[in-house]
Amino acid sequence: MERTLVLVKPDGLQRGLAGRIIARLEDRGLKIVGAKMLRMDMELARTHYSAHVDKPFFAGMAAFMTSSPLLALAVEGKQAVDAVRALMGATDPQKAAPGTIRADLAQDIERNLIHGSDSPEAAAREIGIFFEAAEMHDYALQSAPWVVTGS
Ligand code: CMP
Repeated sequence: MERTLVLVKPDGLQRGLAGRIIARLEDRGLKIVGAKMLRMDMELARTHYSAHVDKPFFAGMAAFMTSSPLLALAVEGKQAVDAVRALMGATDPQKAAPGTIRADLAQDIERNLIHGSDSPEAAAREIGIFFEAAEMHDYALQSAPWVVTGS
């Protein structure tokens, strides 16, 4: 089993889409093992998006990400990183495949509703940024015949 970090970005909460986004994760068989609501500050933006701090879009993106609260989720499942990325679709909603969260619901490349870690290494780093070890929960799903078990 693999874990990955998901952020339901400020536009997800502002537009009342958090429940629908979480439902898509759960429908895919991903298990929520950590969850919290927080307001990202600039220090957290610089840490989480350290690979992007020198990009021309960073200032605008960070202003948006700090504008309103977000939801941080740690989710677990088979190939969870790729599973979340497939559900999200391409970063730019205009280029995202139909049926993905971003294609169906997002407004533009900045207001693209959801962040998912792009590799298992990034997932470990990002989960560590948002969650203390004690905030992560190990538990078994009682009965979930719909959980995806294929490769
Ligand atoms: P995310 O998956 O959170 O990772 C980095 C974010 O930067 C990305 O989603 C986009 O929201 C944002 N981003 C990437 N490229 C651009 C761009 N060209 N213009 C504005 N925002 C961008």
